[in-house]
Amino acid sequence: MTTYKFPHNFVWGAATAAYQIEGAWNEDGKGESIWDHFCHTPGKIEDDSSGDVACDHYHHYLEDVALMRRLGLKAYRFSTSWPRVLPDGRGKINPAGLDFYDRLVDTLLGANIEPYLTLYHWDLPYALHLEGGWTNREVAYAFADYAALMVKRLGDRVSYWTTFNEPAVVMGEGYLNGRHAPGLQDPKAAYQAGHHLMLAHGLAVQALRGVASEALVGIVLNQWPVDPASDNPADIQAARDFWDKGETFFLDAIFKGHYPAMIFDLAGDDWPTIKDGDMAMIAQKLDFMGLNYYSRHLVGAKGRVNSVPGAEYTEMGWEVCPLALRRLLNQLNDEYNLPPIYITENGSAFADVVTADGKVHDERRLDYLRQHFIQTRLAMQDGVDVRGYFAWSLLDNFEWGYGYTKRFGIVRVDYDTQERLIKDSGDWYSKVIAGNEVR
Ligand code: FCB
Repeated sequence: MTTYKFPHNFVWGAATAAYQIEGAWNEDGKGESIWDHFCHTPGKIEDDSSGDVACDHYHHYLEDVALMRRLGLKAYRFSTSWPRVLPDGRGKINPAGLDFYDRLVDTLLGANIEPYLTLYHWDLPYALHLEGGWTNREVAYAFADYAALMVKRLGDRVSYWTTFNEPAVVMGEGYLNGRHAPGLQDPKAAYQAGHHLMLAHGLAVQALRGVASEALVGIVLNQWPVDPASDNPADIQAARDFWDKGETFFLDAIFKGHYPAMIFDLAGDDWPTIKDGDMAMIAQKLDFMGLNYYSRHLVGAKGRVNSVPGAEYTEMGWEVCPLALRRLLNQLNDEYNLPPIYITENGSAFADVVTADGKVHDERRLDYLRQHFIQTRLAMQDGVDVRGYFAWSLLDNFEWGYGYTKRFGIVRVDYDTQERLIKDSGDWYSKVIAGNEVR
């Protein structure tokens, strides 16, 4: 059996997001977010649930950090809720909200766990949505002010700052197909929102560094690599087009300083308003890039192949394809001039069961992790500068439009009792971390 050793300073972590775990949606002065509003609208979420309570992490954070310590995590990626600290998105500060993140950060540091903070994992203050949300340019400036507020409070202890999690999902699911909050289905709004997300990113990079010059700043992008259905040139071309159309908007803006020409043609009249200087603001040099990887697309001249013979699929209907992660890392490395990469999310939803021995024997999730660790290590040997890996997710949690029907955690959460139970995958992961190697 081959042993894959990792560099001594490789960062092993796990990730969560505020709305998916915190609960306490209206406690201690928190304002409403677009996700609170969306979930409280009947028919939006598969099981009609919401993140009102979720994993109640707001009240269980001490226990959750203790769990992370038990797992031996070196880092924890979490997001802060904008409306928890600025209930209306701007103006009046909620001190209790800031205090919560302050305590969380101190508890993490006390446990020797490095905080990786994401400022926006989709929970826009509802008050700002009423002003047009991301279609309103002013919201980008409000975001930069929020970034400055957070770094003023936490910058002495938090080194790693991420502006946005997956802007493509905000744009696509939030403004184009409406499956996510705020639930719009409007291509023009989607493009404008996409550009303002980028502008907000650039403004926030500047704001963060303006307050804490030593802050390490990045963004998290989700990329689905596109493999051709065969070696046939028409399939290869179709796959390349699919990638260019669907996967390059944000990558090109940030790392090349312009949006892809192909998308300009595609958007037609829906092309957003872009002001002079915006692209330079967007394309500032970053200290790291976060990559979220779950699966790939397989595409041919006849379209997407939705069911690959012999392939394994997760509960999300996503093909398990670890080899595509190595290819993706190499492709990104070849086509862009990237800063160091962290895999900021990777994981799988399976229908777990608690067996008579009181455990969750989630071999499939364990194997998913193992295969993706190995492919990450191989990509590093190919020359890609990957510095760390964060499992999605630390905890089972509220999976957006799917509610609580999908479990991604390496730790199980019993939503009735809020009990946490480390799954086999979590136990195995902690051994990987301790030995810094995968077999
Ligand atoms: C990503 C999200 C994360 C989680 C996983 C499964 O797109 O960033 O919050 O929902 O998918």
